[in-house]
Formats: sequence, C-alpha cells, structure tokens
Amino acid sequence: MPHITCVILAAGKGTRMKSDLPKVMHHLAGQPLIDHVLAKTQMLGIEDVITIVGHGRDMVIEHIADRSDIVVQEEQLGTGHALKQAVPKLKDNSCVLVLSGDQPLLSLNTLTSLLKQHQSSGAAATVLTAVMEDPYGYGRIIKKDGVFQGIVEEKDASPEQKEIKEINTGTYCFQGRELKMALQLIKPQNAQGEYYLTDVFDVLLNSGQKIEIVCTKDKTEALGINNRCQLAEAEEIIYDQIRKYWMMEGVTIINPSSVIIDARVKIGKDVIIHPFTIIKGTTTIAEHSIIGPGTFLENCTCLQGCHIEYSVAKEAIIGEDCLIGPYAYLRPGTVLAKGVKVGDFVEIKNSRIGEGSKIPHLSYIGDSELGKKVNIGAGTITCNYDGKQKHRTVIGDNAFVGSNTNFVAPVEIGKNSVIGAGSTITKDVPDNSLAVERSPQKIINNWLKAKDN
Ligand code: UD1
Ligand code: CA
Repeated sequence: MPHITCVILAAGKGTRMKSDLPKVMHHLAGQPLIDHVLAKTQMLGIEDVITIVGHGRDMVIEHIADRSDIVVQEEQLGTGHALKQAVPKLKDNSCVLVLSGDQPLLSLNTLTSLLKQHQSSGAAATVLTAVMEDPYGYGRIIKKDGVFQGIVEEKDASPEQKEIKEINTGTYCFQGRELKMALQLIKPQNAQGEYYLTDVFDVLLNSGQKIEIVCTKDKTEALGINNRCQLAEAEEIIYDQIRKYWMMEGVTIINPSSVIIDARVKIGKDVIIHPFTIIKGTTTIAEHSIIGPGTFLENCTCLQGCHIEYSVAKEAIIGEDCLIGPYAYLRPGTVLAKGVKVGDFVEIKNSRIGEGSKIPHLSYIGDSELGKKVNIGAGTITCNYDGKQKHRTVIGDNAFVGSNTNFVAPVEIGKNSVIGAGSTITKDVPDNSLAVERSPQKIINNWLKAKDN
C-alpha cells in the first residue's frame, strides 16, 4: 500500500445549522462531529491527517491539534478551495483520502473497501457514492451508459438530473499528483460562485484519466449533517448502532429505544439497563450492574454489581455492590467504597464514603470523609459552607449519627461515636463517645386546662 494522507474538510461555516458554534463542534452521541471522523482515521491506522479549518477555527484547533495537522482556509470559497489549501503538504506518489467533517457515520468497512478498490483499480480518483430515496441537497452522480461523467450539485442540476438517486457522499480517494494538477484548474463557475471540489472530476476526465465509483451498501452511512434535523437523524442512527453493539456484547437493554448510550461509554457483560436511562461521556459500568430505570450517568465509574435506580450521577466513582437511589444525586468528586447505600433524596458532593456505610434518606453530604460502616440518620446535613469557604467534615468508622443532625464544618467525629438525633455539632467528638446538643425536653402537664385558666 502506498502512503496515505487523509484530508478532512472542516472549514465551512455550517450556515444551515444556524449556530454560533462551528458545525464540526456540534455534538453527536456525546462527542463533536469532528471526533467521529478523526476516530475513523485512527482506526484505519492513518498517521498523516490534515484538517482544513476556517470558520470558528480557534475552537476547532484547540480541540483537535493533538490529533491532526492543521491547515487554515482563510476564506471559505468552497470545498475545492478548501482542499487546495493542503496541496503544499500532499506528496505526488501518495494516496489522498478526502473526508468531510460533517459526515460522521461512514463505517470502517466502507472506507476500507474504498481504499482497496482505489488501489487495485489504479484509477486517478475513486468516488464513494450512495443511493438515496430522497437525494435532495446532495451532488448527483451523472453517468452515461453506466460510465461516470461527473457530479452536479443540487443548485446546478436540471430537473432530470434532480431525479437521479445516486449521490456523492463527499468522500474520495485520489492519486496525489493527479489531484494537485486538477485542483489548479477548477474555477468558481456555478450557481454558488464557489470552487467545487467535484469539478476536479471534469478536469481529470478531460485529461483522459480513469475515475472509479464505489457505492455504499448502507445509505445511512452517507448522511451529511447540514442542519439540526440531519443531526438528530444521525444521532438516532448512531445510538441505535451503539445499543445493538452492547447487546451483542452481553448487555441487556430493556426497551432499547428509551435508552441513550454515548459513543465512548464502556459496559461489562451481564449489565442490565432499564428504560429511560441516559449514559454519557466516558462512563464505564462493570459487569453485573443494574442501571435504571430513569437514571442519568455522566463520566462516572461504576464498579461491579452496583445497582442504581432513578438517580443522577456526574463524575462519581461508585464502588462494588453499591445501592443507589431512588432519587439520589451524586455530584463530582463523590467516591463510594464497596457496598455503600445511598438512598432517596440524598445529595453527595466531593466526599469519600467508606465501605459498607449507609446514607439512606434525605441528607446532604459535602466535602466529607466517612469511614467504614458509618450510619447516617435521615435528614443529616453537613454545613460545609460558611458563606466564604468550604470546610470538611470527617466521621470515623462505625459512627452512628442520629436523624436530623447538622455537622458545622470543620468538624471531626471519632470512631464508634454516637450523635444524638437533632444535634447541631460544632465541636469535635472523641472516639467511643456520645454527643448530644439539644435543649432538655419540657413537659407541661394538663396544658389545655392550664391555658383556659
Ligand atoms: C458536498 C458536495 C456534494 C456532496 C455532499 C455530501 C461539493 C461541491 N459538494 O456538498 O456533492 O453530495 O458534500 O455531503 O463538494 N468546507 C470547507 N471549506 C469551504 C466549504 C466547505 O472546509 O469553503 C467543508 C465543510 O466544513 C464540510 C465539507 O467541506 O465539512 C462539505 O461542505 P458542505 O458545504 O457541507 O458541502 P455540501 O453542500 O454538503
Ligand atoms: Ca455537507
């Protein structure tokens, strides 16, 4: 195989997105569009990747600079003009694979067969096409007696040409030398006044070069994202692929269409995912866990056998065999050891909870460190914020905290100590002791009668 250079076109404004965000930075299954395209080049093992950036370039460059060489297209004068910017970096004898930053669904199989076909045919260029039921908006493949004649854009097409269902996916292979020559000769003579990349095929045909076509079997792969309806359509397709992938890997998903799993999520076997669950970012879920119904996880690590229902967790580590929910809220920095129970209406933030500890109802635990087998009574609050600074609460192993306790941080509670219900604890409590902070209960006998007199 000759050297392959991949050029990704990603400079366009994405006018049809009607957005302040560059088109390729719009998210699809939890990642910007451009990441899906870059991931394909990595999977193909292509090391020489050039991305053409322009509109909103600072944001795009910052996001991809570690994965791609960058070429700037100062003015966005069309796809042909965009590719032309990379010419000084293209070698005559290399194969140039051109991808669009807005075409995230192409499969590895399809790209591999495009590259193979291109190499074995020895053509100057190979165009990846697809047959669409509704080809509106795409460039149409013009053929005569089955032989490729060129590509006509929607805006330049005659009514008869608009009837053609075979479309240009915007993905191509070129011989470096021929591509560089043809790019010098294209002109902006069309309805949009742009330098069309698709015009290089006219130049190549006129100079007697051979052009091949590879038609994708799965037309959904060719979907280009130009507006938010197409973004939603692509997302539906990719989420379906992701669910099917994990089901084939041994994950049970109940009512799959109500479950969303992002592209980078990892799930172990025998995990069960119940309906209306959203798993985002870089979340990993280990074997035998049960997630949902109604659960939202973002960038979390869930160890083996945890059970989470009707809860929200972000950047939390949930230990083995933990029981979470219903209605728990685990915020960033939460680290739960093995067998922790977090029950209903409990919020935890930036806290470590030791093995076997329980926080079953109606609590806020923030900036805290709980030892092993601590029991937190209902309604316990760590008062971690004094209006200016956050302070820590430390609770030792086996401590038993009565219901409705306030811990005014900073405060430290010793091992095996007991806190009487309703206490507001402002001072440290030594090991093995009882702390109660409560006014003595008064009894006024015959209260009703006493009032009447
Ligand atoms: C293009 C093709 C069309 C094909 C379709 C497939 C041309 C002329 N048309 O049309 O035949 O059916 O893709 O989806 O090529 N870009 C730049 N600089 C520019 C203009 C665009 O980098 O000056 C980039 C865009 O960011 C985008 C890609 O090129 O990633 C395609 O541009 P877009 O405007 O979306 O082209 P289409 O109209 O979809
Ligand atoms: Ca497009």
